[in-house]
Amino acid sequence: MVDGFGRHINYVRMSVTDRCDFRCRYCMSEHMTFLPRKNLLTLDEIVDLAAMFVSRGVKRIRLTGGEPLVRKNIELVFEQVGMMIGPGADQLTELTMTTNGSQLERFAMPMAAAGIKRINVSMDTRDPDTFRHLTRGGDLAQVLRGIDAAEAAGIAVKINMVGLVGINDQEIGDMLQWCASNGRDLTLIETMPLGEVAEDRIEYYLPLDGVRRDLVQRFGLTESGHRTGGPARYMAVPDYGTMIGFITPMSKNFCAGCNRIRVAATGTVFGCLGHDQRVELRDAMREGGPEHTSALLDRLLAGKPLRHEFDIHAARPAVARHMSVTGG
Ligand code: GTP
Ligand code: 5AD
Ligand code: SF4
Repeated sequence: MVDGFGRHINYVRMSVTDRCDFRCRYCMSEHMTFLPRKNLLTLDEIVDLAAMFVSRGVKRIRLTGGEPLVRKNIELVFEQVGMMIGPGADQLTELTMTTNGSQLERFAMPMAAAGIKRINVSMDTRDPDTFRHLTRGGDLAQVLRGIDAAEAAGIAVKINMVGLVGINDQEIGDMLQWCASNGRDLTLIETMPLGEVAEDRIEYYLPLDGVRRDLVQRFGLTESGHRTGGPARYMAVPDYGTMIGFITPMSKNFCAGCNRIRVAATGTVFGCLGHDQRVELRDAMREGGPEHTSALLDRLLAGKPLRHEFDIHAARPAVARHMSVTGG
């Protein structure tokens, strides 16, 4: 698949639910209105859609949420999409997941059996009280047990940490030390303005260029050509053999290399995280058939925006939907 700017789109992020058992303050408001369950794609339809993407040349699928592991019977999805992994031209090279880790203890083994080899776990702090505050009730110990279970099952875990002034900015060095000592990569992320939350995001926004300079000094980070195909730019952590990634949508745009589209749990497909441009595939799949569905996808690709227009200083987020609808 190629978009209107000639970018090759071979990566799809599929949100399987917008629900989550946490309420991270930068992501959600305390009382969220979730998508009505009757509007969601069925599990079979999610698998069918994945198969269509694979037939159109998609090489990597990431399951996201909300929290993907709170969708009932989600193992049916990763087991079947996992069967699409293989060396062939019409197969996936990788199936991955981004999760908050709360349900990993239960799902790590079946995920590994389905062929998932690496996951990203959102963990913004190592302090149990800060964690409970930030997630509005989350239990850090449960997430840590989940991470251990995933690694015991043979799944590599990368930690995602959204940098937040006054909440976790003082523990970034500690987090890097902990990740590196345990052989885990870490990705730092700048907060993006999607959907209204109770907090004023500008108060917490942490530009990562200064953080990077500080970490280079403290840890002797070195340049690295390491890429995962995502927006992160990685540096190597000497002596540990691990990586630290920086995702800088606000301070340093990376859209020129965009390779992705994202599917919401309803079958709405978005061309860009930072725009409303979309097509609706659910009814097309149910009533129109494969050709109609594929033609709609072509329309999405042709109109895929060049870049996001996030403005952290704007009074209201330009995009009204929350990150949990498209899984980031
Ligand atoms: P890998 O590089 O494959 O490990 O994954 P990733 O970093 O692309 O995915 P992950 O789900 O861990 O996302 C990390 C952060 O990057 C989240 O805050 C996402 O919202 C953000 N992100 C992922 N893709 C994009 C993108 O295309 N545009 C923007 N602006 N942010 C993105
Ligand atoms: N800005 C940046 N990252 C966010 N995430 C959730 N909401 C936001 C936001 N507003 C992160 C989560 C998770 C990943 C999928 O996106 O922490 O790691
Ligand atoms: Fe791609 Fe949009 Fe993300 Fe930019 S913001 S990298 S164009 S999805």
